[in-house]
Amino acid sequence: MNKTVLECNGIAAGYVKDLNILQGVDLVVKEKEIVSIIGPNGAGKSTLLKAIMGLINVSGGRFYINGIEKTNLATHKIVNEGIGYVPQVANVFPSLTIEENLEIGSWSLNKQQKENLKQIYEQFSLLKDRKKDKAGNLSGGQRQILALARALITKPTLLLLDEPSAGLSPVAINEVFSIINDINESGVSILLVEQNAKRALSFSDRGYVLDQGRNAYQGKGEDLLNDPRVIDLYLGKL
Ligand SMILES: Nc1ncnc2c1ncn2[C@@H]1O[C@H](COP(=O)(O)OP(=O)(O)O)[C@@H](O)[C@H]1O
Ligand SMILES: [Mg+2]
Repeated sequence: MNKTVLECNGIAAGYVKDLNILQGVDLVVKEKEIVSIIGPNGAGKSTLLKAIMGLINVSGGRFYINGIEKTNLATHKIVNEGIGYVPQVANVFPSLTIEENLEIGSWSLNKQQKENLKQIYEQFSLLKDRKKDKAGNLSGGQRQILALARALITKPTLLLLDEPSAGLSPVAINEVFSIINDINESGVSILLVEQNAKRALSFSDRGYVLDQGRNAYQGKGEDLLNDPRVIDLYLGKL
């Protein structure tokens, strides 16, 4: 049985005091897994990732990273625990070069992590070739690749991805999913929020459906894809 990397236990969190968006969410990610979170707009998917990253206050429940409680830790400490995060919006600086974007990801890092930057250039030749180009000149798909690369500089064991395929062309979506798959095969667990629910579930080991800040359904990706209740409520219209 693979070890549990992340466990969320009854997480309640929100943006305003006494107004919880998440109403007690449970979720587990194990070593090497790809886990997706789907659910309607406003369900709290992005909010859950922000709560895990310590970007908003958690008012109830607990987080465990590798079995040790890490509730309400500062964001940089969560990163040091091996969690990487690619937010849904503004995940690169368009006015900076690709190189500068990647170096920001490594500004506070040690020699080893600077070494990782070299590896990342080897892995993503596109970024190497266009080092000096502004991130704003990249296509949508290339920007997502840059954002993924930035998140890899700290060598995470778990990567949280918030809608990495949003707004991309079908070709770019395939490319981004293929890179996510490569990252996973290199040993990194993935927690993926996706609005493209069918695609996400068919790509994942397991999935969670969130609705109105609560767990609605969970199971193996393929079981959820074929679950009539999930199809009817969450997949049918896509
Ligand atoms: N920065 C914010 N401040 C206040 N409320 C927010 C903020 N971001 C999101 N919300 C609210 O939290 C709820 C869940 O949003 P979100 O987690 O972004 O949903 P999802 O990612 O599932 O579409 C929504 O009702 C949204 O309006
Ligand atoms: Mg969202």
